[in-house]
Amino acid sequence: MSDTNNDSPNTSQKVNQAEKPWNGRFTEPTDAFVEAFTASVTFDQRMYKQDIAGSVAHAKMLAHVGVLTESERDQIIDGLGKVKSSIEAGEFNWSITLEDVHMNIEAALTDLIGITGKKLHTGRSRNDQVATDIRLYLRDEIDLIVSELKRLQSALINLAEKEADTIMPGFTHLQTAQPVTFGHHMLAWFENLERDRARFIDCRKRVNIMPLGAAALAGTTYPIDREFTARELGFEGICENSLDAVSDRDFAIELTANAALLMTHLSRFSEELVLWASAQFNFVELSDSFCTGSSIMPQKKNPDVPELVRGKTGRVNGHLISLLTLMKGQPLAYNKDNQEDKEPLFDTVDTLKGSLKVYADMMQHVSVNKDIMREAAIRGFSTATDLADYLVRAGVPFRDAHEVVGKAVRLGVESKRDLAEISLEELQSFSDQIQADVFDVLTLEGSVSARNHLGGTAPEQVRAAAERAKTRIKE
Ligand code: ARG
Repeated sequence: MSDTNNDSPNTSQKVNQAEKPWNGRFTEPTDAFVEAFTASVTFDQRMYKQDIAGSVAHAKMLAHVGVLTESERDQIIDGLGKVKSSIEAGEFNWSITLEDVHMNIEAALTDLIGITGKKLHTGRSRNDQVATDIRLYLRDEIDLIVSELKRLQSALINLAEKEADTIMPGFTHLQTAQPVTFGHHMLAWFENLERDRARFIDCRKRVNIMPLGAAALAGTTYPIDREFTARELGFEGICENSLDAVSDRDFAIELTANAALLMTHLSRFSEELVLWASAQFNFVELSDSFCTGSSIMPQKKNPDVPELVRGKTGRVNGHLISLLTLMKGQPLAYNKDNQEDKEPLFDTVDTLKGSLKVYADMMQHVSVNKDIMREAAIRGFSTATDLADYLVRAGVPFRDAHEVVGKAVRLGVESKRDLAEISLEELQSFSDQIQADVFDVLTLEGSVSARNHLGGTAPEQVRAAAERAKTRIKE
């Protein structure tokens, strides 16, 4: 999480009205409430690093094209370094009157180095500046998100390898359907996360495009060299159209959509963990360090982490709707509305990173109650389909096989026996196609290992898939 993410930022209201950059045009001071209402510094100060990096690159470019002298460039770079140190030392006075991170830093620079500080904004506007800052910020955050994602994926691969042979009931409609291996189930979540990872990596390409140079909206009359600035900042491309450059927030929406989908996956996974950790299922044990107790009911161990992740999904989904709605009525180009992009974005990033971190840690400490899951798979007649497939292989039409198995299940229910516990003679009373080898398919182990093809639940396939998964996340 960003080190500048304070809930109560260090702000100072001492700045004089005369310091407003647009003072020349205005005769009346800003209404005090409006000043606070329109300011973004309380939250956009978290982009100070990116703002300074952008300014350093811009100053270098201005000197490169001869708009600044080398000495002016050096003074600016040196001054910005000092501003950065003072922010990082917690000594910087963020001012609401100076509205946002951009004007706060520029004013501090001018305080430090005098008139040269005022030259930094040549050929630039806060409109292209802010769009650049957000993109630089998100580029860094995407890298952190992807690395947390991989940590979680690795934990799932480890679990899958450890529990490749562990049998559990597989569900459809939350009713026992067919036996699967726990490892296979973990790798299903791996696949969800692998798609998420691909989406973040793909979205990074569109984040990493530079708006700087668009200035307010139309470009600038200075002989700027945008390629130079882009190289300095590590951008992969340059926004082709200045109007689009300052008004586009697609990349932010895309990132939030990816985050909402990833959170939705974690939410579904959480729902399973909450169920599985209950006394009724008792399939898994979450480590004590990821649960809390009850102040009143001594027996309780609550799965708070998955519950909270499930709950936090709501706010990220909400942020996606906020951003879509923020953009839907805006004409080109920049509008002040855009300032509202930051809080949903920042909260999306914080929530996602927090959820991924806690999940990656938690999944390294999940223990599995094999006997209980096995028993649950047996009790649910999970090999009924295997019996039907056996009959079909013996030449019985599927519809008839379905009926034979239905009768066998009914006998099992009435006599409280699993299919594998019903005698051969009894089974043969439903179909004379049934032979002694039927018990090979009625066992749980026989059932899972028969699904031995790419994507199937057989332990052999799970091990091979885990191996491939390890290679895939290296890409
Ligand atoms: N704080 C503003 C934002 O976040 C910066 C750009 C403001 N530009 C302007 N012309 N008012 O969008």
